[in-house]
Amino acid sequence: AKPLRIALAGLGTVGAGVLRLLETNRAVVEARAGRPFEVVAVSARDRHRDRGVDLSPYAWCDDMTALAERDDVDVVVELVGGSDGPALALARRTLDAGKSLVTANKAMVAHHGMALAEASAIGGGALKFEAAVAGGIPVVKGLREGAAANAIERVSGILNGTCNFILTNMEKSGADFDAVLSEAQAKGYAEADPAFDIEGVDAAHKLAILAAIGFGARIDFDSVSVTGITEVRAADIARARTLGFVIRLVGIADCDLAEDGTPRLLQRVRPCLVPRHHPLAHVDGPTNAVVAEGNFSGRLLFQGAGAGDGPTASAVVSDLIDIARGDIGAPFSVPVSDLVTMAPADPGHRVGR
Ligand code: HSE
Repeated sequence: AKPLRIALAGLGTVGAGVLRLLETNRAVVEARAGRPFEVVAVSARDRHRDRGVDLSPYAWCDDMTALAERDDVDVVVELVGGSDGPALALARRTLDAGKSLVTANKAMVAHHGMALAEASAIGGGALKFEAAVAGGIPVVKGLREGAAANAIERVSGILNGTCNFILTNMEKSGADFDAVLSEAQAKGYAEADPAFDIEGVDAAHKLAILAAIGFGARIDFDSVSVTGITEVRAADIARARTLGFVIRLVGIADCDLAEDGTPRLLQRVRPCLVPRHHPLAHVDGPTNAVVAEGNFSGRLLFQGAGAGDGPTASAVVSDLIDIARGDIGAPFSVPVSDLVTMAPADPGHRVGR
């Protein structure tokens, strides 16, 4: 069978993880894909940094966006990050050239996902972003395929590993916020700018993507109402505990009816009081969890590592396997519904049910 020819842009934690995974799991990956995988070219800001992987088998490209134009490339894997700039330029050029794009870039998908989906439909290449939401948990595929037969009533979850790591460490050991944040950075969970984590923006990017998939709506990041965890104090956590709750940063998307009866999609990210018996109360450390409530499936819980090289690489390569098998369908509904998205007036801070 013809090999799937891959170019990789961005060789940070996740990029190096993808190369390691492809090396270690080559036999199983290729058996499932039904084709050999061949990484032909790589690009990153710094060629000489020690990443613990041997880059000598791959062509090096100084100009990242030139990867999109190489005749010997079928799929570009974008692991550069940032909603605009080089990542977006590369994504557009890849899809416009009719090639497939796999990305872990939640900020880019949250801001430009619909435009990229259009470019993918026009060019004929796939757009895949399993790794953009909740790291190793196959929740994009889970919502798109596993829950496909359902009307989704609510999608909620813990979508930022760094915040969950901070909150659970503060809870267990009374540790100081800044010290735990530094630890999350050292472990490679945090964003390049950790303000995106602790201010809830990263979770909001992921919620907007999941909401669009679950509800068949357009991605509308601007209408997510966001509060991060920077105001959460150790005393709040201790007080919550005496009342039978833990504090978690939770994203929730669900619908209500406007005064004229039209359904609207509400999206919010908040530090929430979670009752100790609720499944989300048991999600600790950098773990993520997503709860999808379907009208026939009932409550589905997806849980696993939401950040880190191995889990995120695993999601990237699962997208490559889909493409190798010829599954190039976009995860968004086509046509998108005309559901209006908006920020709720009073979202509340309590996870019930
Ligand atoms: N900074 C993100 C997190 C990485 O902590 O969840 C995974 O998207």
